[in-house]
Amino acid sequence: MLSGRRIVLGVSGGVAAYKAAYLARRLVEVGATVRSVMTESAVHFLGAQTLAAVTGHHPVGGFWDEAEVSPHTDLGQWADAMVIAPATAATMAKLATGLSDNVLIATALATEAPLVVAPAMHTEMWENPATQRNVRTLLDDGVTIVGPLSGALAGGDSGPGRMVEPEDILTALTEVLSGSSTEASVRDMDGYAVLVTAGGTREPIDPVRYIGNRSSGKMGNAIAGEAARRGAQVSLITTAAPPSGAAIEVVRVETAQQMADATWERAGEVDFAVMAAAVADFRPRQAEDIKLRRGDGLPVIDVEPTPDILAGIAAMENRPYLVGFAAETGSMEGALRKATEKGVDLLVGNDVTRAGSGFATDTNEVTVYAPSGESDRWPLLSKREVARRLWDRILEDRKPG
Ligand code: PMT
Repeated sequence: MLSGRRIVLGVSGGVAAYKAAYLARRLVEVGATVRSVMTESAVHFLGAQTLAAVTGHHPVGGFWDEAEVSPHTDLGQWADAMVIAPATAATMAKLATGLSDNVLIATALATEAPLVVAPAMHTEMWENPATQRNVRTLLDDGVTIVGPLSGALAGGDSGPGRMVEPEDILTALTEVLSGSSTEASVRDMDGYAVLVTAGGTREPIDPVRYIGNRSSGKMGNAIAGEAARRGAQVSLITTAAPPSGAAIEVVRVETAQQMADATWERAGEVDFAVMAAAVADFRPRQAEDIKLRRGDGLPVIDVEPTPDILAGIAAMENRPYLVGFAAETGSMEGALRKATEKGVDLLVGNDVTRAGSGFATDTNEVTVYAPSGESDRWPLLSKREVARRLWDRILEDRKPG
């Protein structure tokens, strides 16, 4: 798909600029023709000569030092696709506002080709409301944003902000060029408000220990991210790290009680609620204030039920369209029973003992049950594809008539 394609590689000034050289090399290896454009600080980080050697073309660095009269429009019209990697917070802000005070932004504004942006910055900068506002604007403008990932960052810190790997960018470029990218391309959830729960709750035993489960939040993140890409306003109530790159309200919680409070507070104002979280069914009646010691003998932990968040929403007078999940082990009978008894509109059952299914995997194999007992078994799919199909099914169900 990338062979024979003309790719403009924009590089802005961050430590991750070193990865741009490898990205350029990979693009050339798969048969693309690459022309590059660099900001002044990118030249400091990477050096123009490196990109020139890898791509066979000297990078464009300014408006005034080029042989071409209008380098930004020439490049913009030439491109089949443009990618900016790394994209700093400043570059994303300029892109979002159209502030074309350098040749990279001018090229991005001058092109009608699809644009892929790979952010890289410190966690605090990524999570800053201004950056998140710019992310939302860019997604609304049809830009494909890949990453960032969570991981080690320059300067020794760790968190979301790390640029995705060049192979991920190649995949994103392939998708935008084949027209199969769903990033901001389907906007059939514009105007809808959505609430999603994700992750596993932790019920404290003492300041050190808790009753928990294996949920990573990946399934809920995929559902929240897909809804946001399709235009919905999304609130994600989660115990886990939220998805990167998605414009969503994230409410971090730890216990079932906190998840219940945050969920019930919002449930009356949304159109759809999807309960993908693995919520503890019981918690220690009393969490100890200080750490339990081995020398004090075996503790007896007295437990009590947690609030049933799903049941609370199902009982609401003006409840949203409600989707429950069921984590089953072996038999799916429990999922069918929950579909018919829990007052949901749909129930998604998954057998968490199956390979590639359930907790902490990137894939899932689910059966979707209607309250009538009618069921639809889907093959093993990526969680993102499960999320896409689930929203298709929910919207189809909600259609009037
Ligand atoms: O997060 P991942 O690692 O990607 O894993 C995904 C998943 C396996 C957690 C997910 O696909 C899943 O199955 N989520 C539901 C897990 C679960 O708690 O199932 P359950 O059968 O115990 O609960 C049924 C439903 O009631 C769920 O929608 C749950 O959110 C809800 N519930 C449960 C207990 C409780 N006190 N309140 C609730 O609202």
